[in-house]
Amino acid sequence: MDRPREQWGTRAGFLFAAIGSAVGLGNIWRFPKEAYDNGGGAFMVPYLIALLSAGIPLLIFEYAVGHRYRASAPRAMRRLGRPAAFVGWWQVAICFFIATYYAVILAWSVRYIGFSLDKRWGDDPASFFQKDFLHVSDTPALLGAYVPGVLWPLIGIWIVTLGVLALGVKRGIELANRIFIPLLVVLFGILVVRALFLPGAADGLNALFSPDWSAITDGEVWRSAYGQIFFSLSVGFGIMVTYSSYLKRKADLTGSALVAGFANSAFEILAGIGVFATLGFMALQAQLPVSEVVQGGTGLAFIAFPQIISEISGGSALFGVLFFGSLLIAGVTSLISIVQVIVAAVEDRTGLGRVPAVLAVGGLTAVVSIAFYPTENGLYILDSVDHFINAYGIVLAALAAIVVATYVLRRLPLLQRHVDAVSSFRVGRTWQVLLGVVTPIMLIWMSVDSLIGEFEENYSGYSTDFLLAAGWGVAGLALLFGVGMSLLPDRGADAYRPDEDSETKEVSA
Ligand code: ALA
Repeated sequence: MDRPREQWGTRAGFLFAAIGSAVGLGNIWRFPKEAYDNGGGAFMVPYLIALLSAGIPLLIFEYAVGHRYRASAPRAMRRLGRPAAFVGWWQVAICFFIATYYAVILAWSVRYIGFSLDKRWGDDPASFFQKDFLHVSDTPALLGAYVPGVLWPLIGIWIVTLGVLALGVKRGIELANRIFIPLLVVLFGILVVRALFLPGAADGLNALFSPDWSAITDGEVWRSAYGQIFFSLSVGFGIMVTYSSYLKRKADLTGSALVAGFANSAFEILAGIGVFATLGFMALQAQLPVSEVVQGGTGLAFIAFPQIISEISGGSALFGVLFFGSLLIAGVTSLISIVQVIVAAVEDRTGLGRVPAVLAVGGLTAVVSIAFYPTENGLYILDSVDHFINAYGIVLAALAAIVVATYVLRRLPLLQRHVDAVSSFRVGRTWQVLLGVVTPIMLIWMSVDSLIGEFEENYSGYSTDFLLAAGWGVAGLALLFGVGMSLLPDRGADAYRPDEDSETKEVSA
């Protein structure tokens, strides 16, 4: 018998948490470069179509599964139907691997908040980041010497994250998001306004928003748009299944999906404006075209931004604190959601209480994160795990969930009735077509396209041995774990009879 399930205090609390999960590193450092590389202003067309045709439908699917079956991702998927069980555990393993490195980027941000005060990176932020700060080794390997400058903040990040989770859904996750999300909006808002007043800002914005309409006919641009939406909305991780399992019986699923989806995209576009206004300033200082100073990911945050911070006259330390502080806050709320997928799964499966579950599995995740990443090889491992677990973890797990639900279990009509019965507006059959046909086509296309690229050349030029361990190995292990766990009995899920659920009768009647 399930113990009474924890619940969000209010609908707004759930929305804050869902937005907090979505808005993360993907919005601040991934979106601006993706948009720029893929047609600038013209990217908005495939991006919005991806949001409406796949992002929001998948978000509604995850909300529906979590809300209807009221359990963590593995148990909810198993209740949806036995063949779907492996997807839930697969997502738990994916979240485990993502959490181990996501926390590390937050630890770097903590240090860079401090470095901003005295511009510790000096004249050469690139060399400072790689050599002085991370002590990056010359050749990638799995084990390496510790870098204490990352170790301590990483331990701090884990204490905060596990502390919030130990406090529970309402007093921990909800409260943290209620504080952090408004704070993030204020800090990032100030940063964007300051960026818009930098000399050269207009050139940066012109570069970002000048539409290159020819991009619309390029398949790669569409693939990037769908990839960005999946990562950024936090779909495919099992997070939204987990979070919606704490909703009350009557919950506006479609309204919430629209609010969360558009809030995430609004933040993403705001980040694009802030980042490109700043890059415009950098280009002006260097007397280079904006195209030559654009970088994404690690290079943008920890190399380009420090360079810019050094060049701003007046308030530069504040600019640095705002940028790295925003990165930290946006990332912490996402990390909390990622680890909660693992904690909730273990709580359901073992019957452990919240605090022991947090200590056991949250602790294990923290230990692995602390063992592998704050080392001189951490940057390489992070880069490889991030690439493979996104391309062959999140995307494939989302695809598997949809294909099994639609074509093996034929559950979409049931889920649609569930969604329509509890929500403010009805999704009708359009949702089934978008989710069951459009989304899988895009996901298959994305996956085949990336696989072809993988065999053309080794990712980032790393050795095959390294990629087999820190790339393919990790992605394969996550899938094996999913399949292995789904073969074990789970009495809590197997005893579940949807027909005994009074709401279900009413909803599916
Ligand atoms: N959705 C989260 C992000 O954007 C994972 O970083």
